[in-house]
Amino acid sequence: MIKVAPSILSADFCNLGSEIAEITAGGADYIHVDVMDGIFVPNISIGIPVVRSIRKHTAHTLDVHLMIDRPHRYVERFCQAGADLVVFHAEADEPQDLFAAIETVKRQGKRVGLAIKPKTPAEVLSPYLALLDLALVMTVEPGFGGQSFLSDMLPKIETLRAMIDARNPACELEVDGGIDVQTAPLVKQAGANVLVAGSAVFRERDRAAAIQAIRNA
Ligand code: DX5
Ligand code: ZN
Repeated sequence: MIKVAPSILSADFCNLGSEIAEITAGGADYIHVDVMDGIFVPNISIGIPVVRSIRKHTAHTLDVHLMIDRPHRYVERFCQAGADLVVFHAEADEPQDLFAAIETVKRQGKRVGLAIKPKTPAEVLSPYLALLDLALVMTVEPGFGGQSFLSDMLPKIETLRAMIDARNPACELEVDGGIDVQTAPLVKQAGANVLVAGSAVFRERDRAAAIQAIRNA
């Protein structure tokens, strides 16, 4: 089953409640929330208070993508703010702190994921794979919506699909960056099952149709 996770980074933040209501009614599986700290990535977006506000507004799954330095410092607070799935970057912390952060999220009763940037090989996730609910392959350099899909990420998605099937088949494989009706079939073919899409959903007037088009592409 293919899941679509619209990224609210491309939503109108002045009307976030209605934007979220539209994608929820429009068939979004997860609401993808991009948190950026201006250090791990060269952009600043939103944080804990916004996650808390969204949580009050919807019972839908909040997929919180932390693009922040040393995420172990903050994962507990994102869980308490209402994240259902907390995803952070393998490049952003020391291995012992990544293990600790994974443990913290699980202890809070939430699902946990690890993400890798385009230059990071799939094998970096190997030590953590058995513990994960989700692995995220960035298909653009993290930091901004609206960038072009990096097609040289396809072999990495295939490699990770093989690793997941062999070692933790319940783990989801998410892709993020440049996903639209053209690129969706490529990542599905490579083995992704959760597709994040920001601009391809929010630039369309009919968000339900955009979500459906990506799911069925
Ligand atoms: C990029 C973010 C993405 C972004 C995707 O750093 O992690 O989730 O919003 O936007 P599109 O789909 O426009 O590439
Ligand atoms: Zn994201």
